[in-house]
Formats: sequence, structure tokens, C-alpha cells
Amino acid sequence: MRLSERMNAARQQQSPAETSVLGQEPQVPVALEEAVQLAPVPVSKPVEVTAVPTDALAGLKHRAANALFDRMGARFNDSTLTEEDLRAAAREELGQIIDEEQVPLSPEERRRLIRDVADDVMGYGPLQRFLDDPSVTEIMVNRMDQIYVERKGLVTLTDGRFSSEEHLRKVIERIVSKVGRRIDESSPLVDARLEDGSRVNAVIPPLAVNGSSLTIRKFSKVPLTVQNLISYGTMTPEMAELLDACVKAKLNIIVSGGTGTGKTTLLNVLSSFLPGTDRIVTIEDAVELQIQQQHVVRLESRPPNTEGKGAVTIRDLLRNSLRMRPDRIVVGEVRGGESLDMLQAMNTGHDGSLSTVHSNSPRDAVARLETLVLMAGMDLPLRAIREQIASAVDLIIQIARLRDGSRRITHVTEVQGMEGDVVTLQDAFVFDYSAGVGSDGRFLGKPVPTGIRPRFIERFEDMGITVSPAVFGQTMNPAGRH
Ligand SMILES: Nc1ncnc2c1ncn2[C@@H]1O[C@H](COP(=O)(O)OP(=O)(O)OP(=O)(O)O)[C@@H](O)[C@H]1O
Ligand SMILES: [Mg+2]
Repeated sequence: MRLSERMNAARQQQSPAETSVLGQEPQVPVALEEAVQLAPVPVSKPVEVTAVPTDALAGLKHRAANALFDRMGARFNDSTLTEEDLRAAAREELGQIIDEEQVPLSPEERRRLIRDVADDVMGYGPLQRFLDDPSVTEIMVNRMDQIYVERKGLVTLTDGRFSSEEHLRKVIERIVSKVGRRIDESSPLVDARLEDGSRVNAVIPPLAVNGSSLTIRKFSKVPLTVQNLISYGTMTPEMAELLDACVKAKLNIIVSGGTGTGKTTLLNVLSSFLPGTDRIVTIEDAVELQIQQQHVVRLESRPPNTEGKGAVTIRDLLRNSLRMRPDRIVVGEVRGGESLDMLQAMNTGHDGSLSTVHSNSPRDAVARLETLVLMAGMDLPLRAIREQIASAVDLIIQIARLRDGSRRITHVTEVQGMEGDVVTLQDAFVFDYSAGVGSDGRFLGKPVPTGIRPRFIERFEDMGITVSPAVFGQTMNPAGRH
């Protein structure tokens, strides 16, 4: 479909404002077509000046896009021009093209037209405004006409759409080619990290059945801090004090949570508690951690090349890191056989290591670690694996996304040892759901102490680490063992 036809079709459809899937207020629509409809019509002026026929606008947009292609010519491929220079040049050309057309436009219409055409031709089309919007943390394109975004933990369907499957494919190709990858029928699945650290996953047909699909987890240059997590209700100031003490006391800590629950963010915050004097080695699949301390070595695994060679796994890096004299090892996420090496490292003098695992409860985290150790292919008996886990891991911090979209620490659970064949877990803190839900639909509760004195307190005492009485102050109902 030609661009002008699409504009007409879209207009007839009367695209609604962003629709909330979680019941929050719809957001203000910003698409060009709506802007045109919403433009006030001053009675004192002739109608044709303000009410530019929408067909004419669509036509103008189309002509401007073509003219821009022509005029920019070789500059599109000029590697000496930065993205910003290129954009500035394109905007200038567009301004001239529109002036030459002599279509009367309000300043707002003109601004939007330039933005939309520049976005379509140069950038990431309808994704551009979400990429530019710092409040958007995640962009999810299910298919060319369905784009969801996440803002402040809430996912909303937007009115953004690509003109066609081809348009979406072009944008996906532009994104992945920027990082030297390609996507086509022979490799229809790409997982890549952009230069700015954002994570991109693209799947095209035939694997993606309803048309190409794209997910972008935007990388925030300013990582969330412990203060942010406190203000979002993820943890209380008392819990922050406790976790700080746990990290300083060199407990081996596993953050457990589902997809996108904030595991990496929490790991980053825990890492901020590491003493500046410790030598830290971080190991990740795609570097996300932003460790502020100085004495840090960052390692990143490498996927195999197109011939399937040259891979360096998390496991390889973990083994290597043991020879790097680390005081602390931070593994971004364990999702395979490397968990055995990590447990062994934790058990052999690398106390105070931190990692995350994908699981939905502390008990589940133990089961998940068991499964991952089996993936190491060492044929260890289950009991031996459990003993490794019980003696290696001191603390499991469970993080979850609750129904209200907020991310909360739901459990701080101590791994106490073994009873028979079972790893014994004891909750020190659990989320208090009994506080109910506020008028804004958000949970009012917070993680509160169960009243059971964790054994790691002794470790604190041995190491001369103290926490204020408020940390274990207000308790809920005492909870039993799992
Ligand atoms: N406590 C929090 N409160 C609000 N937003 C958060 C919180 N933690 C993380 N986020 C946001 O949620 C998104 C996902 O966070 P993060 O990458 O830490 O999750 P994850 O569990 O590691 O995800 P994955 O399973 O994909 O590895 C990010 O955009 C991040 O900014
Ligand atoms: Mg993560």
C-alpha cells in the first residue's frame, strides 16, 4: 500500500488513543493524523488555510519522503557524518522541501511533518518517538500494527504502527545491521545488543507466525539506585540496610525472579554495596551491570561465529576468573552448567559472590539450581548437588512483579543447610499482602521480618557488622519453615 493510501486508511479507522491494558488512563495521542484533526480552526481565518485536507497532507508527506531520499543521496552512506549530522541535514532539507511545496501548515503541523518524515526515512519509523522517550523502558512490537510500550512498570498498547510488514522488516534490518548482524530467512532470529547497551530481540517469519516481531529493552544510562528502589516500594530503607550488611558480610547471594522482574537491576544495586577495596570480577552474557567501584574487571561471553566456532561461554569465563584473584565474583545470570562452577567457587573461598537465577520462589530457585547443575553433565548424584547448593548459597532474594505492575522483594530467605535430602530454607522477610491495595490499585504492603532470627546475624557479629534495631523491628506473623 502506498504511504498516502495508508494514511487515508489509518484516518478512516480513527485510531484511538493509547489503550491501557492495565486499566490506567489512556495517554495523549501524538500521531500526525490526530494532530491534524485536533488543530483548532480559528473562525477569523479562511477555512482552507487551517484545515489542510488530510489527503493533501498524506500526499505531502509522501512527496517529502521521496524528495528527501533524492536530495540526501550519497550522504546517507557517508560514514564521516554522524547520525546527528545526518539528521540535522535531513531536517534542513525537509524544511526546504516543505517550503517549496507552499502548503499552508501551522507551525505544529510543520514540526510534526518534519519529524514523521525524518523518522520514517532515517530512523526507526514509529519506534523513534519511543526510543527518544526516556520514560519508555521497553518496546514490544508484536506485529507491524501492534506496538506496546512499558512506562513505569505499566504496559500499554500504543497507536504507533508501521506502514507494512516490509517497513517493519526494514527497520529491524537497520537496527541489527548497526551491530554487524543480519536477519533473513536463513537466520530468522537475532538477539543483539545495541551500541547504547539496549537489548534487541527480533524474530521474523516463518518463525514469527503473525509477522515480524521485535522487543527492545532500553538501556538506561543512569542505573536505578537503591534510593530509586526504595521510592518504588521494591524494598524498605530497613531492608536496604540489611542487604548492605549481607553484602558486606560476604554472604553468597542469589537474586531469584521471573523475566523482567528486575533481577539485573537488583544485582546492580547489591553490587553497589561491595567495598571499594575488593577486587570485583563481573561475568555476563551481555554487559548490563554498571559497577561504580574502581577495582573491577568486566568479562562478557561471546557467541559462536557463523561457522559455529569461537564461542566463549560464561562457564569458560567463570573458570578463568578464578585465576584472576577476585575477592568477589558477580555473575549476571546463571542459566546453564556454569551454575556448578559458580557453586564450587562459592564453596571454595570466593565468599560474597552474587548472581541471579530465573525462578519464581526461593524453593523454586533451589530446584532451578539443581537442574542447571545437571546441565554441567558431571553426572553428580542429586544429594551431592543439594549439598553443594546448601553449603554454597547463604541467601536468596526473591523479586516479583505484582499484579499492580510494581516490582517488589517478596522474600529474603536464608539457606540453612540440609535436613535429610531436603535443602532447608527459612524466610527472614516476606511481603505483607495483608495490608491490601490502595485507591490507586497499588499494593500497600512491604517486605516485613517474619520474626525469626536469621543465622547470618551471627556472621554479622563475628565480622563486627551491626544493623539498626529497626531492621528486625516490626514483624508480621511468624512464618514456619518451607
Ligand atoms: N525495582 C524496580 N522498579 C521499577 N522498575 C524496575 C525495577 N527493577 C527494574 N526495573 C525496570 O524493569 C526492566 C527490567 O529490569 P531488569 O533488566 O533488571 O530485569 P531482569 O529480571 O534482569 O530481566 P531479564 O529476565 O530479561 O534478565 C528495566 O527496564 C528496569 O529499568
Ligand atoms: Mg536480567
